Amino acid sequence: MTELLKIENLNKSFGALEVLKGIDLTVEKGETVVILGSSGSGKSTLLRCVNFMEIPTSGRIAIAGKPVGTERSRASGRIQVDYRESELIGIRATVGMVFQHFNLFPHMTAFGNVMEGPRTVLKLPRGECEARAETYLSKVGLADKMHSYPAHLSGGQQQRVAIARALAMEPQLMLFDEATSALDPELVGEVLQTIRSLADEGMTMLIVTHELGFAYSVASKVLFLSDGVILEQGAPDDVLVRPKQQRTRDFLRGHATYKLPDLAIT
Ligand SMILES: Nc1ncnc2c1ncn2[C@@H]1O[C@H](COP(=O)(O)OP(=O)(O)OP(=O)(O)O)[C@@H](O)[C@H]1O
Ligand SMILES: [Mg+2]
Repeated sequence: MTELLKIENLNKSFGALEVLKGIDLTVEKGETVVILGSSGSGKSTLLRCVNFMEIPTSGRIAIAGKPVGTERSRASGRIQVDYRESELIGIRATVGMVFQHFNLFPHMTAFGNVMEGPRTVLKLPRGECEARAETYLSKVGLADKMHSYPAHLSGGQQQRVAIARALAMEPQLMLFDEATSALDPELVGEVLQTIRSLADEGMTMLIVTHELGFAYSVASKVLFLSDGVILEQGAPDDVLVRPKQQRTRDFLRGHATYKLPDLAIT
């Protein structure tokens, strides 16, 4: 197995507020890791640290075996990690992220939106950008909507364009932050199906979701984040069916729509 992501003792504070408190996580290539936790537990902050939209306060992150940043010992004996912006731009190109609100460029067609990253960030030749746009829009089932503007697409279709846009960068790792939370219920399924097919193809993913049935069926590993620490992690059966921690049980019980046939929460 190949370790694609290794997070060691990751801490993130905003001023006096400690949001992530010593996160350790290893993700093998091809794994689908689902992150659960109540509002404010630090799920988005964790994903944003992985693609360096937020700079960790301390700790180490390595992607594909390569530590990000340069370590330096301070006079106090503490280790500080320095990050160069040019390195972070490279990381962001290799770690794709899909958000709750898809933020497509409204003045560009689906095709234009998907071509934009390969064109402006990767600076690939136009022909290759077009080929990627075609490939990845087809992959998310939108071959017939390539030339539509976002305003003429449903929310589910727009979110699939956002997924194609991230895939067109050919990332090593994909992060999904509540990618279906803003969608009408009838549109959730098509987006989850798209994510599921990526998992089936072996894409490595970290997924924050409240769709627990989906989490159960797609995850290779489930983490439960509580107050900035990983309270519990393991196979879907361990965390979602036989959770050890009371807080995990309370969280699961709070999801009334979550009904596994043999849910052993007491
Ligand atoms: N840029 C920021 N500046 C200050 N505080 C922040 C910032 N980003 C997040 N926080 C705080 O960090 C904590 C964790 O936020 P985060 O968005 O990671 O939680 P979450 O688990 O994703 O919650 P939700 O389920 O509501 O999306 C919250 O208390 C939040 O207010
Ligand atoms: Mg969040």
